[in-house]
Amino acid sequence: MTTTSPSQAAATPTGSITHLRPALHFTARDTWLNDPNGLLHHDGVYHLFFQSNPHGNTWGNMSWGHATSTDLVTWDERPVALPHTDEELVFSGSAVADVRNTAGFAGSGQTALVAIYTSAYTAASDRPGIQAQSLAYSLDGGDTWTRYAGNPVLDIGSREFRDPKVFWHGGVDGRWVMVAVEAVDRRVVIYSSPNLLDWTLESRFGPAHAVGGVWECPDLFPLDVRDTGESKWVLVVSLNPGGIAGGSGAQYFVGDFDGHTFTPDRLSTSTDPTDFDWLDYGRDYYAAVSFNDAPQGRRLMVGWASNWDYANAVPTHPWRSAMSLVRELELVRCADGRLRVVQAPVLPAGDPDVEVFDLTVPTGPGTRAELVLSPAEGTGTSRVILTLDGDARTVTCDRTESGAVDFHPTFSSVDTAPLLGGDVTELQIIVDATIIEIYVDGGLVTLTQQVYPDAALTELRATYAG
Ligand code: FRU
Repeated sequence: MTTTSPSQAAATPTGSITHLRPALHFTARDTWLNDPNGLLHHDGVYHLFFQSNPHGNTWGNMSWGHATSTDLVTWDERPVALPHTDEELVFSGSAVADVRNTAGFAGSGQTALVAIYTSAYTAASDRPGIQAQSLAYSLDGGDTWTRYAGNPVLDIGSREFRDPKVFWHGGVDGRWVMVAVEAVDRRVVIYSSPNLLDWTLESRFGPAHAVGGVWECPDLFPLDVRDTGESKWVLVVSLNPGGIAGGSGAQYFVGDFDGHTFTPDRLSTSTDPTDFDWLDYGRDYYAAVSFNDAPQGRRLMVGWASNWDYANAVPTHPWRSAMSLVRELELVRCADGRLRVVQAPVLPAGDPDVEVFDLTVPTGPGTRAELVLSPAEGTGTSRVILTLDGDARTVTCDRTESGAVDFHPTFSSVDTAPLLGGDVTELQIIVDATIIEIYVDGGLVTLTQQVYPDAALTELRATYAG
């Protein structure tokens, strides 16, 4: 038996949940948020738009909120970018810098930033209940936005057609590619366009692998395979419910994309969700999408750190919900021959205002390790228990005693992820007030979990058996 102490000094304990605002995970000042939208790097600035209710802290009045950052860890909340109207809710989507002025929105010397979003038309509109894709553009670097007069630009008459992710494909002779979902059909649809205005259907993908809920918020991007010079395409799609840990979750497929069709390397015939590839094994990682135009070809992703099962009920005030940390993605070839995504959190260079525990744990046959996260002695009784089982080759995260759990019947949970590495498991555990992100074996497996402890979780005690 060994006991380790935390790698960092204890932060000031907090006794009241209203003080537990995460430091590094983006939260809106005093409103609700859900999916990250329009992730774009342009002119040295990272733009994070997000599903926002500008008038409250539960879902509704969907609009695009806006925040900017130059370092991916400190965010400035800006005025609402795309407000809802009586006729249109502004659902999820993406943003691009139209550097070739393909849409013709920019005057000379200007670059238009273009948001491609889902118009969810209200009963007051002339398309009640329809979801279609629309554009808005900014000629001042993202501060102010104008809706395109010819909206929507892509309407197939569907009530379940949403979440367009658009990117430039194919270099100087390229064109725009959009992935979106036909949500209830569990299909990702791929469209192309020379100008963001006129769209042609190229192909469809799905249903495939996890289909226990509607498909939402797809993304498609090339990703380097570590140490090979090779690159593959990754298709990410969230689903709700039917995620690996229950409720909302995000799966991915590795394969090829020729500008028209996505072809996965591997399609499992199993219906066992543990045979599929998941971006995260916790309860709280959804709607994850990546930045367009990140410098140095980096693939940087952000997810919504919540779950539709209980998102509207979590005990925070006046804000509700947070984004995940920004994660940098790469592919690695695993011992079983499969290419898997690995994720590394972007952390501040200096001493972060969060707890970061780095440790290695023996996980060979016959071993069992228990790691308990708790508040500083005498400040609270909440705890989160991680168990690494060397025989079952699993890591479980138990948040049943993590503090406030009874605000919703589905919140209290014990969640399990596979150990995919060797006899020694590397763990990085980041505790940021109410969000725990666990990176296992260099991010080969991640678990993201909300917790509402009675005091800040600053201590980690490890017990090893076997
Ligand atoms: C995913 C989602 C999207 C939709 C948005 C609405 O969480 O349901 O499909 O665009 O949220 O807020």
